[in-house]
Amino acid sequence: MSTLLLLPGDGIGPEVCEQVRRVAAALTPDLVVEEAIYGGASYDAHGTPLTDEVRDRALASGAVLMGAVGGPKWKDAPRHLRPEAGLLGLRKAMDVYANLRPAYCFEALAGASSLKTELVSGLDIMFVRELVGGVYFGEPRGIEDLPDGQKKGFDTAVYTTSEIERVGRVAFELARGRTNKVHSAEKSNVMESGLLWKQVITDLHAREYPDVQLEHILADNCAMQLVRAPKQFDVIVTDNLFGDILSDAAAMLTGSLGMLPSAALGAAGKPGLYEPIHGSAPDIAGQGVANPLAAILSFEMALRWSLGRAPAADTLLAAVKAALDAGARTRDLGGTLSTVEMGDAVLAQL
Ligand code: IPM
Ligand code: MG
Repeated sequence: MSTLLLLPGDGIGPEVCEQVRRVAAALTPDLVVEEAIYGGASYDAHGTPLTDEVRDRALASGAVLMGAVGGPKWKDAPRHLRPEAGLLGLRKAMDVYANLRPAYCFEALAGASSLKTELVSGLDIMFVRELVGGVYFGEPRGIEDLPDGQKKGFDTAVYTTSEIERVGRVAFELARGRTNKVHSAEKSNVMESGLLWKQVITDLHAREYPDVQLEHILADNCAMQLVRAPKQFDVIVTDNLFGDILSDAAAMLTGSLGMLPSAALGAAGKPGLYEPIHGSAPDIAGQGVANPLAAILSFEMALRWSLGRAPAADTLLAAVKAALDAGARTRDLGGTLSTVEMGDAVLAQL
């Protein structure tokens, strides 16, 4: 029996995860939902954002769904023990190398975008962000003293052939089930790791996916095109750092960061890590006003990609659409519903 491990974490994480619990109880009552302490909350209790015990439970689960980590409270924690370090450690331990971040515009929300409605209506982009490599993990890294009294801060952007190939395959496979188009974004004009990225994607495409349309795009141009004409994109595959930045920009096209889920996937049969992409939002934490839909939609992705329950995922997605069509709006969407009331609105449609 597969288990969903909830890691509510910090900030608005616990509030939005509570709504996932309610939805899971109604939609998939036989699914075992467990919970563990994580992030800043774990640092406070155990002196580390990710204990070995929680890491092992995550590895043994069917899927892991986290709320959010971090906040100003932990800004002075030692760097390697900050809540964000727990998140990076969990991604690495689970080896979830392909981060699927949909930028999907619900029809009812097209007017909430900062772009003109016609530019975003029907928007459906799937980012595939490499998640366990690149400059986030590259060595050497550090801050060193220089003889002249200055300091030097440095990181290493590094990718190997196999790291690029495995995330590239995920993108090409996804594209085949969509409109068969992949953009690969890098900075091959300045970075050696970007040049290798482009070569490996080119070779992989020629060898295994010649039926898929592939375009290479420089990451800066990709940022510009995302706000100019976002509907030209279907699947965008990119490295860890560019994926972090580009997916935030794309998320905002859809109306609210509070809407977007993500799935981080590793090898077949291994648990995925699901997260709303909004973060801990310390400014509104504890007020009961956060939008729980990104977390609920992350659960939808977990049902689909890890828990083998696609029909339940379809039902849940339809319920979220129906709730939005019926006018359910939290504050970030220009409405007045509380977190619990938005949960109620989805439950009412289930
Ligand atoms: C994200 C976040 C994280 C990242 C932070 C919290 C470490 O911004 O998931 O996009 O940079 O990957
Ligand atoms: Mg980010």
